[in-house]
Amino acid sequence: MTDIAALQSEILAQVSAATDEAALDAVRVGTLGKKGSVSALLATMGKLSPDERKVQGPLFNGLRDTITEAIAARKVQLADAALDARLAGETLDVTLPARAENSGSIHPISQVLDEVVAIFAELGFGVAEGPDVEFDDYNFTRLNIPPDHPARQMQDTFYVAPQADGTSHVLRTHTSPVQVRTMLNTKPPIRIISLGRTYRVDSDATHSPMFHQVEALVVDKGIHLGHLKWTVEQFCKAFFEIDQIELRARPSFFPFTEPSLEWDMRCDRSVPGKITFGTGNDWLELGGSGMVHRKVLENCGIDASQYSGFAFGFGLDRMAMLKYGMPDIRSFFESDLRWLKHYGFQPLDIPTLDGGLSR
Ligand code: DAH
Repeated sequence: MTDIAALQSEILAQVSAATDEAALDAVRVGTLGKKGSVSALLATMGKLSPDERKVQGPLFNGLRDTITEAIAARKVQLADAALDARLAGETLDVTLPARAENSGSIHPISQVLDEVVAIFAELGFGVAEGPDVEFDDYNFTRLNIPPDHPARQMQDTFYVAPQADGTSHVLRTHTSPVQVRTMLNTKPPIRIISLGRTYRVDSDATHSPMFHQVEALVVDKGIHLGHLKWTVEQFCKAFFEIDQIELRARPSFFPFTEPSLEWDMRCDRSVPGKITFGTGNDWLELGGSGMVHRKVLENCGIDASQYSGFAFGFGLDRMAMLKYGMPDIRSFFESDLRWLKHYGFQPLDIPTLDGGLSR
């Protein structure tokens, strides 16, 4: 006769020894399965005499029930343990630095445009705008550069096909036509800057056929060269974020200003690949300026006997290259992601008149 108690404890030991669901299932198949040891035992019941069955029946059934329960309980235990192990393995460390988002950055030109607007806003200048495809009249004629004037050859112009209405257009060669637009539309006092794209037929490491300028225009009663000098100085200090700068004005010629001056800033370029402002024996060219020519004032409907004005126009790409150390102007417009990642800016990097970036 089978020793039920011994069989039961043997099977219970197997149940406890099963360390995963597969092992536990093997025990179940080996005992309660069709050919399992407990099922085989139950199958012998039919062959027992009624008296034997009375004694053995409850024992067999008890064995089956005990094993069934033990297997179910062990199954729950194993599932809990598996969950615990998973939770332990997947602990989230909230103190770890966040994974970097693949975020974009602000193009150095956009950054510099924002910086310049912020600086001039603090000086009380508004921002005026004009189109890239400009009337020949505004780009040249009203700026005292009539057709056939030799000064037109100073700028290699992209001409646009003649229009049906007889007006001729160019890709603006400078931001100066916005002076014209502003004076035609507003009465003095005028205090604006205008910045954006300008175009000339030119391309090498320091010239791009598309580039950027900032133009400033102030027209009021009693405006003189001193105002021009002060404004250029404030702008350069804020833009390059240095207190000690030295400016030099050279006499120049532009048809739209009289007198005309070009500004240079003292710098040190004795260490290759490095430029320091405020010291040294070198000069960095900033751009042109002057007192607005009375003919230009008159071309734009402003009484030159009452009002005077100053203006300047500086190249922004060059200023950005100098400030942020970029060697080739063409890389600004090549859309190379590696370059953009390296030289790009974050949204809140805007300088103030006190110097430094506001954050
Ligand atoms: N428009 C000139 C250029 O592109 C720069 C310039 C010179 C602008 C004198 C001015 C100015 O406003 O007064 O070369």
